[in-house]
Amino acid sequence: MTNLTLEEKQELIRMALAAREKAYAPYSNFMVGAALRAEDGRIFTGCNVENASYGLCVCGERNAIFHAACAGERVMTELCVVADTSGPVSPCGACRQVMREFGIQTVILANMKGDFKITTVEELLPYGFEL
Ligand code: THU
Repeated sequence: MTNLTLEEKQELIRMALAAREKAYAPYSNFMVGAALRAEDGRIFTGCNVENASYGLCVCGERNAIFHAACAGERVMTELCVVADTSGPVSPCGACRQVMREFGIQTVILANMKGDFKITTVEELLPYGFEL
């Protein structure tokens, strides 16, 4: 688990909440925001983007990771995901595998009530796939 100061954690949560405001979720009405820190300290965000062809919906976490990857980042350290859930939101399996690809270690799971849980990709995805 990487070390984040309280301010750094709060900043990621704030940025994920702001990204969630941009979610395009007219089919599920389940809005998700994510924010991640890359190795060089830059922060990237993403939200879920849905489609009338439901299978094409993309999660907020993956959009944040792909946003960073498209900006040239290859090592990412911490990611925060937030949604309006009763407890801290739990990322889907596909996003857990994509987090693993870019070395994300620390994951902050949060909700709109201010609950959060700090965990790791290793804990979320034991025995993840690798080539
Ligand atoms: N969703 C995410 O953005 N992240 C997850 O980890 C799970 C699900 C989105 C996909 C879809 O737009 C909506 O939540 C309902 O599944």
